[in-house]
Amino acid sequence: MSHLNGKIAVVTGGNSGIGYSSAKKLKADGATVIITGRSAEKVQNAAAELGVKGIVADVLDLSAIANAVDQIKNEYGNIDILFVNAGVFSPAPIGQITEELYENQMGINFKGAVFTIEKFLPIINDGASIINLSSINAYTGMPNTAIYAASKAAMNSYTRTAATELAPRKIRVNAVNPGPVHTPIFGKTGMPEEQLNGFAQAVQNRVPLKRFGQPEDIAELVSFLASDKASFITGSEYNIDGGINVNPLLVG
Ligand SMILES: NC(=O)c1ccc[n+]([C@@H]2O[C@H](COP(=O)([O-])OP(=O)(O)OC[C@H]3O[C@@H](n4cnc5c(N)ncnc54)[C@H](OP(=O)(O)O)[C@@H]3O)[C@@H](O)[C@H]2O)c1
Repeated sequence: MSHLNGKIAVVTGGNSGIGYSSAKKLKADGATVIITGRSAEKVQNAAAELGVKGIVADVLDLSAIANAVDQIKNEYGNIDILFVNAGVFSPAPIGQITEELYENQMGINFKGAVFTIEKFLPIINDGASIINLSSINAYTGMPNTAIYAASKAAMNSYTRTAATELAPRKIRVNAVNPGPVHTPIFGKTGMPEEQLNGFAQAVQNRVPLKRFGQPEDIAELVSFLASDKASFITGSEYNIDGGINVNPLLVG
C-alpha cells in the first residue's frame, strides 16, 4: 500500500510502543517519517531499526521542540502528518498526588502536546492531519488515574477546538483513544512485575474481546486518519479498545 506517498510525517515518542509501530506503519504506507523522543540512545536505536530520521526532543523542553522543528524545516520543508503521541502513565491515588507527579504527567501529556502543535504549526501544510493520542481513561473512573485521565480529557477537549480553528486551512485534528495496549508504558511506572501481571490480567478480563491491544492495532487507525481517505474526518475521536468502554456494568 502507498496511500501516504509523498507525505512527511512526524511521530513524537516514536522510539517505543504505539509511536514506534505507527512510525513503521506510516513508512510502510509510503510516508517519509521522522521520530522524536527524549532519550538520545533510544531514539538513535529506534531510528536505525526503522530506517527513519530520529531527533531528540523532550516535550517538557519547549526550546528542544523548537530546535526539532528548525531541523525538520531545513531538511524536509513542511510536514503533512503530526502524530502527537509522547506520553507517560504515572498512577497515584488521590491523597498521594504530589506536585511533581502532577507537573510531570500534565506537563508531558497535555502541555507537551499543546506546545508540540504550537511549535510545529508554522511548518504544517494546509490539508495536513494532526492525530492526538489520548486514552479511554479520559472517560473512565479507573482508580489511581485521576491526573492521567485528566491529562487525556484535556487533550480530547483541545482536539475539538483545534479542529474548528484549523479547519479553514483544511488541517484535520482528531484524537485516538486506545484501551489497554501491550507496550513498555506500564513497566515504566516502577510497579513490581507481580503487581503489573495482576493488573494486566484484571484489565484483560474486563475487555470484551479478551485481549490487550497491540501497538499495530493502533498504528492501522493512525495511518488511516493520517491519509486522504479520512479527508472528511475532523474533530472526532476514536475508541480503539476491544470494547472495554462499553463493557456492561452487570454481567450475566
Ligand atoms: N499502552 C496503553 O495501554 C495506552 C493506552 C491509552 C493511551 N496510551 C497513550 O499512548 C501513548 C504512547 O504510549 P505507549 O503505550 O506506546 O508507551 P511507551 O512505549 O512508553 O511510549 C511512550 C513514548 O513517549 C516518549 N516520551 C515520554 N515522555 C516524553 C517526553 N517528555 N518527551 C518526549 N518523549 C517522551 C517515551 O520515551 P521513553 O522511551 O524515553 O520513555 C516513548 O517513546 C501515550 O500518550 C500513552 O498515554 C497508551
